[in-house]
Amino acid sequence: MIVGRITRISGPVVTARGMEGIKIRDMVRVGELGLVGEVIEVKGDLVSIQVYEETDGLRVGEPVQSEGRPFLAELGPGLLGTIYDGIQRPLEVIRDQTGVFLARGASGDPLNRSKRWHFVPTAQIGDHVAYGDVVGWVQETPAITHKIMVPEGIRGRIVAIAEGDYTVDEPIAELDTGQKLYMKQLWPIRRPRPSAQKIAPALPLITGQRIFDVFFPVPKGGSAIVPGPFGSGKTVTQQALAKWSDADIVVYIGCGERGNEMTEVLTEFPRLEDPRTGQPLMRRTVLIANTSNMPVAARETSIYMGITIAEYYRDMGYDVALMADSTSRWAEALREISGRLEEMPGEEGYPPYLASRIAEFYERAGRVICLGSPHREGSVTVIGAVSPPGGDFSEPVTQNSLRIAGAFWGLDARLAYSRHFPAINWLTSYSLYLDVLQDWYIRHLGADFLAMRRELLEILQKEDELKKIVQLVGRESLSEPDKLLLDIARTIRDDFLRQNAFHEIDAFCPLKKQYYMMQAILTFYKACQRLVGTVPYDELAKLPEWEQLSKMRYVPNEQIGSFFPKFIQELSTLSKEAVR
Ligand SMILES: Nc1ncnc2c1ncn2[C@@H]1O[C@H](COP(=O)(O)OP(=O)(O)OP(=O)(O)O)[C@@H](O)[C@H]1O
Ligand SMILES: [Mg+2]
Repeated sequence: MIVGRITRISGPVVTARGMEGIKIRDMVRVGELGLVGEVIEVKGDLVSIQVYEETDGLRVGEPVQSEGRPFLAELGPGLLGTIYDGIQRPLEVIRDQTGVFLARGASGDPLNRSKRWHFVPTAQIGDHVAYGDVVGWVQETPAITHKIMVPEGIRGRIVAIAEGDYTVDEPIAELDTGQKLYMKQLWPIRRPRPSAQKIAPALPLITGQRIFDVFFPVPKGGSAIVPGPFGSGKTVTQQALAKWSDADIVVYIGCGERGNEMTEVLTEFPRLEDPRTGQPLMRRTVLIANTSNMPVAARETSIYMGITIAEYYRDMGYDVALMADSTSRWAEALREISGRLEEMPGEEGYPPYLASRIAEFYERAGRVICLGSPHREGSVTVIGAVSPPGGDFSEPVTQNSLRIAGAFWGLDARLAYSRHFPAINWLTSYSLYLDVLQDWYIRHLGADFLAMRRELLEILQKEDELKKIVQLVGRESLSEPDKLLLDIARTIRDDFLRQNAFHEIDAFCPLKKQYYMMQAILTFYKACQRLVGTVPYDELAKLPEWEQLSKMRYVPNEQIGSFFPKFIQELSTLSKEAVR
């Protein structure tokens, strides 16, 4: 056991001496309280440690003890439905023990040690198993079967395995090598969990949010960023995705944001039902909370902790969606630590390795063939919020993130100000995934889905050009077809793209309804285009159909099939007589 002494304390960074043999990224316990820390620099005899808990009260001369291993995540049944801090202490357990939200030096086992899980083997005595092979399962929640996989470094023939109720510390199988298998395994959070093969993502993450599903989709295994200025809707967007996207598992990281936002998640999720399983949403969710009032350095780990847990469920063959709100706060933690280490600063004071850290994080997204047998495919989709100071997207965190993420959902202060939510700018946002998703859309929704998407976007682009003309010469100078186009564009913006995250029905829009809504708008547009030469446009502008279009997003899900075909039929047969 390596034990050193503190020589200097600078905020979350502590320097120690007398720790020969310690390695970078080793985990240590700092001071009499045994605060959790990690070695981030070794320079001769001096070791720099980032401490994941508040360091006030620590004194020079107090001991620093090496744990002789890197920082590890504990993986096993019981992760779902739990709320952790950045170093995987379960927040509720700690609150129970100490009466406060989080006490320093407090420890709580990440996985419950006394709970028994019913283990059902799928492997048998005599089977040869190796890293990644599934040997059995546990029903972790009613919807999620937790696969028990052979951890790295273990290989052999099973000599004992039996169905029964076990805690995560009791062996569920034994190999001829003498090695034992448990339901719990450990993984160093900074190291990506390997897979057999990365494969091209080809299935969309269905979000129930029209602007994403129709305009800027992200596949399961893709990555997207949501940059936006203060109050533009980053958190509401991330939470809507956490609630409604069709991932099997959601990992939600609240990183450096206000505590009350996390409280909203905590109080709301248990009440909400997963639209696919009817189960409380919390049962498919792992929350990692490192709010603004919690130690800065642990923001850094919260990101790695979250993605490690996401990869672990991916390895079972699940589609996992990870939301990180906000990656800017994580980058700021990097900057603060780097400053304390007196490293040479790069752009805007961020460390020169900011770009590579951001890239490494997003590169852990992907769709994979999992290691081991039986054959499994899984994915991790990463959606990172970015909070650029002053909403300036040219700053380093936004720029480095958009270089690597495949979809860019740019929030716009002007849209938010005019209460157009989600305030995603449809002209500047993009998805690079349309090519890989095209087949899926054609097969499941028909080629016209993509054709309609294109038409809507073209109308909005044309609107943008026409608006410039209107500013110069006024609306009256426009041709009748152009006036019609402007009103259709407004309908697309207000009645299709706008979506109220807090409305009982509108919060989640099934794909079929999205399809019908596009069809209704475009059918009406075509009908008006037919009439616009024969009827004055001002008459068309008064049609009651505009009003009906503005209400279609509130059509309840059970009525989609009965309402829309009839509505669209009526729109298509709009005649001159109807106008008079
Ligand atoms: N989709 C939406 N539907 C309805 N209201 C929304 C939507 N998105 C955002 N809002 C409104 O905007 C407000 C601010 O949104 P949010 O808290 O998500 O912003 P933010 O970008 O996370 O802000 P901050 O920079 O402070 O973290 C919300 O409280 C809500 O009133
Ligand atoms: Mg926010």
